Amino acid sequence: MQRLVTLADLSTADVERIFAVTKDLKSKHAVGLREPILPGRVMALLFEKPSLRTRVSFEAAMAHLGGSSLFLGADVGFGSRESVEDFSRVLSEFVDVVVMRTHAHDTVVQLAEHCSCAVINGLTDLAHPCQALADLYTLRETFGDLKGRTLAYVGDGNNVARSLATGCAMLGVRFVLAAPPAYQFDDAFLGRLAKQVPGRDVSMTDDPATAVADAMAVYTDVWASMGQEAETEKRRRDFADYQVNAKLMSAAPDDAVFMHCLPAHRGDEVTSEVIDAPNSVVVAQAGNRMHVQKGILTCMLGTHA
Ligand code: CP
Ligand code: NVA
Repeated sequence: MQRLVTLADLSTADVERIFAVTKDLKSKHAVGLREPILPGRVMALLFEKPSLRTRVSFEAAMAHLGGSSLFLGADVGFGSRESVEDFSRVLSEFVDVVVMRTHAHDTVVQLAEHCSCAVINGLTDLAHPCQALADLYTLRETFGDLKGRTLAYVGDGNNVARSLATGCAMLGVRFVLAAPPAYQFDDAFLGRLAKQVPGRDVSMTDDPATAVADAMAVYTDVWASMGQEAETEKRRRDFADYQVNAKLMSAAPDDAVFMHCLPAHRGDEVTSEVIDAPNSVVVAQAGNRMHVQKGILTCMLGTHA
């Protein structure tokens, strides 16, 4: 495992291995044990969009594992000061892994093509694989075996939704997207997913209540992602019937949990009542970003007994 650009870079066995390592390291962390299993390893974080969770959870994970991190901002001149090829080849001389957050997905694809070190996608316009792994791990902790259960995603068919749908397909979880038709998955994504996971159960509807009827979890994300700020008002109108509120949650089974990758826009895609309710697992999801990323880094860079 040298790259995690989308979840298609992993097999289901890779995901299970990451989760097994995560479980072990998380239980050790809970009793104060932080094993330095990646001593001397260096991680570069190359971020062209803001971040709280992804940046801090990766940095904390690497610190706990005995390695170190470098945050690379605009001053390194990625994409402007020299070619992506030169940048990637040189950066690979210094670090063991690069985590990149950017706009165009192809930028991370190119980075991975030219880096000889490991590369992890820390969010692009197309995908957010580390988020989906943490979310599925959180669901495992809550419900145990997830096979045949349903995750309902209400909102924009965006980067988070695509990675979640892929992760669900890989683990045998039914995925239902409820979105206005213009914001549902496109054929290109659905075609790739069909090839990657022929047995997937991914469906789409424009009716949120139908989507959540059978769901173990109701998930949402912002209506306008980073880079789409100019569309905020239009999207607010387009998604007006897709807010996750108490009424929609009452259409889900009693034991359903609420999920959000955060940051949330309270009052838009979710009400405060829902995000602060006892069945909301948003903070656990965020916390698991760090634990699961320890699993990812260990599987990529180290050995784990
Ligand atoms: N969920 C998530 O990726 O959060 P950040 O944008 O804060 O990293
Ligand atoms: N879809 C959101 C996720 C943020 C973690 C965005 O891309 O801005």
